Amino acid sequence: MRTAVGDAHVLTDPDVVAGQVQDWTGRYVGSTPAVVRPGSVDEVAAVLRSCADARVPVVPQGGNTGLVGGSVPLHGEVVLDLRRLDRLDPVDALAGQVTAQAGVTIARLHEHARAAGWDYGVDLAARDTATVGGTVATNAGGVHVLRYGSTRRQVIGVEAVLADGRVLRRLDGLEKDNTGYDLSGLLCGSEGTLAVITAARLRLVARPTHVIVALVAFDDVDAALASVAELRRGLDTLRAVELFFQDGLDLVCDRLGLARPFAGRHVAFVLVEAAARTDPTAELSDAIAALRGVSDVAVAADTRAARQLWRYREGHTEAINLLGAPHKLDVTLPAAELSAFVREVRERVTAAVPGALTWLFGHAADGNVHVNVTGVAPDDDRVTDVVLQLVARRHGSISAEHGIGTAKRAWLSLVRTQTEIDTYRAIKHALDPNQLLNPNVLIPSENARGLHG
Ligand code: FAD
Ligand code: MLT
Ligand code: ZN
Repeated sequence: MRTAVGDAHVLTDPDVVAGQVQDWTGRYVGSTPAVVRPGSVDEVAAVLRSCADARVPVVPQGGNTGLVGGSVPLHGEVVLDLRRLDRLDPVDALAGQVTAQAGVTIARLHEHARAAGWDYGVDLAARDTATVGGTVATNAGGVHVLRYGSTRRQVIGVEAVLADGRVLRRLDGLEKDNTGYDLSGLLCGSEGTLAVITAARLRLVARPTHVIVALVAFDDVDAALASVAELRRGLDTLRAVELFFQDGLDLVCDRLGLARPFAGRHVAFVLVEAAARTDPTAELSDAIAALRGVSDVAVAADTRAARQLWRYREGHTEAINLLGAPHKLDVTLPAAELSAFVREVRERVTAAVPGALTWLFGHAADGNVHVNVTGVAPDDDRVTDVVLQLVARRHGSISAEHGIGTAKRAWLSLVRTQTEIDTYRAIKHALDPNQLLNPNVLIPSENARGLHG
């Protein structure tokens, strides 16, 4: 390793690497013989060849903001820190694309694209730390999926290093290229199990110059949920529709010291963002006025106020973490099941673990609810089981955007058939026969076969 990347980039002191062996939530803590920080694709290849020769497993790591325990070494793996791969090429204005190395943060990518008159379609609260490589590896979603899709939709091609050190490179940026298997697409959402992503060729989107944000309060969950389709139908500048509840708002305001947005108390809140080249304020106001069951509305008059309204929603992750390591379940429900799920899930959780607290928020337009549960021991899986079983019965997905990681690996068979899981295993075996790349995530271990149906 030292020969490959230089002494300064092999970290072994447990105090120095402490932040890299623990996940963002604090629920998953492991250990590592070394954090290795390659500075080029060739160095990544050299590190992986050494690990392959010595049969040492590796956990690729970007910003370590993942929320399913997938970015940390749970069984003494080497950590491959990709953040020194931080080159960002000039925007290709003719193509509307950019090539970014894996360690570039999403915030830096935004700034870079915006300075060139474009924008990048994926945005998330972890933007200052989450990386291009991590977001591709998890197929991150975020707050603009409704308009631009998840990360997979932005990726035109990737450069990646295989477990044996060979390099796959498809960064030519051809919008249409129907030439066999889509290997870049396969790596989107692969969670570090198939290859180490070193760069991505990304599609950019038109940059809206006017962004208007409103927070709409409801006293009835069904009215709040029904507003989502109404907004999608009536507002063609819509860019985000987010959901949270009064208990979450109270927690965020109390823990983060924010003033409350409304004088009264309500049941549910829908945060709406409209973005366009011309001012969408009138159109947004009309769309909100046409909604049924609205109890109160706050419209941000400027960028600062808009950021403040977003803080009520984005502050949930941080505020919940202040209560102790949460169990984070990130699920999608079919639109017709959402209302019943929201009503039922809290009762199910409390029945399984009395005293546990359930916090709900999410990306309403995608049917994506973040079910966070606090007051449960880190290794107590009852809550995960109860929530994911409920989701599967209602024909939802056990992972909307965070991935399977280590947290939900044993539940994969709830939503994937044995044939699908066997196909995952075959792909894994073809690309990583010695199981060296992120061995603790996504694919259930063989002895867990059929655990959940
Ligand atoms: P890491 O956490 O370092 O790694 C995540 C996974 O990707 C791991 O399995 C790791 O092994 C693998 N990996 C990382 N880099 C590479 C690479 N170069 N090659 C191969 N594998 C790699 N997620 C969403 O989808 N939507 C959200 O709205 C959202 N909001 C968030 C808000 C907060 C406050 C936080 C803390 C997290 C949020 N997340 C969200 C989760 C997280 O930010 C995403 O999963 C993100 O994609 C992780 O990026 P990262 O660089 O931190 O990756
Ligand atoms: C969010 O939407 O805020 C993120 O996915 C983070 C989380 O689930 O806590
Ligand atoms: Zn989310």
